[in-house]
Amino acid sequence: MTIKPVFADATPLAHLPDDRAFLEDVLAGFAKPQKTLPAKYFYDAVGSDLFEQITRLPEYYPTRTELGILDMRGAEIAAALPRGAALVEFGSGSTVKVRRLLRHMPDLAAYVPVDVSETFLRSEAAALQGDHPALRIAPIAADFTQPFALPHDLGDAPRAGFFPGSTIGNFEPTEAGRLLRQFGDVLGEGATLVVGVDLVKDAAVLEAAYDDAAGVTAAFNLNLLTRIDRDLSGTFAAAAFAHRAVFNRAASRIEMHLVSRADQTVTVAGHAFAFAEGETIHTENSYKYTLDGFRALAAEAGWSPVTVWTDPERLFSVHALRLG
Ligand code: SAH
Ligand code: AVI
Repeated sequence: MTIKPVFADATPLAHLPDDRAFLEDVLAGFAKPQKTLPAKYFYDAVGSDLFEQITRLPEYYPTRTELGILDMRGAEIAAALPRGAALVEFGSGSTVKVRRLLRHMPDLAAYVPVDVSETFLRSEAAALQGDHPALRIAPIAADFTQPFALPHDLGDAPRAGFFPGSTIGNFEPTEAGRLLRQFGDVLGEGATLVVGVDLVKDAAVLEAAYDDAAGVTAAFNLNLLTRIDRDLSGTFAAAAFAHRAVFNRAASRIEMHLVSRADQTVTVAGHAFAFAEGETIHTENSYKYTLDGFRALAAEAGWSPVTVWTDPERLFSVHALRLG
């Protein structure tokens, strides 16, 4: 099987955060009173692999619940998308979810997976091409928070977007609104968007999902420090930090932190940073929404609600939205 032509027009490394942008973000994040790191840096090759392991953990209910919704309601969800559409997936990761839709969309014009984790993106696109030889697949390695162009030859196929996994929850609500607007700009007037959104629930269920017994989420969080050491000549010892996940109910978000186990000084590209024992680096937010809360956020960003699907326990939701 030949897969080369599929990638011929893929945007090479467009807008990908390079090491300089990474360093700037680390220095800016560490200059704040509450030190922070942007969550998008979790996803190097090791981080993408750890995330895939997270999705299979017994405690991490979002993936299997969303897959359950896609299995039960896939035909209805696909029917909410225009026929002959070009489907753009933002933060495509593994192709396991889009496969649930593809089986109901035989006349799809093209599938455009967009992801910042380039190696993973390309291997997943190649695997999907193997299973769907007739489907045009045009991967784009890009940061979806920045403007990027779709392939020129999609013609007048109606545009549709797919943003599963509650990745929207990893953005501050104002940033999430801006992101939905940016997706509207990329897709254009009249577009349809299907978004997976995790729902508010018991703190114990949420905290277990982000602090699993096997320690995979801890490894995912700590890998950020290993990545800083490797890419930015950092001197972190990952063992000198601990993983913490707490549900902040007032803000309706799970917060992940890395907690310094001792007073210590670490350098990053020659810049020194002091950490007191117990001081944290805030590495990720994962916002949890109510159905109405998410609809209101989407409406503010120009997207009208069409349909929403949930599982029987109302753990997770999948929203179909239309621009305008
Ligand atoms: N959609 C898949 C993957 C979700 S994990 C699913 O639901 O299973 C989140 C994915 O988004 C990862 O593959 C990560 O590499 C990607 N990602 C995170 N931030 C990104 C950004 N700013 N731009 C592009 N991709 C991003
Ligand atoms: C990708 N994103 C939706 C995941 C989440 O649940 O917020 C990332 C993650 N972080 C820890 N576990 C999973």
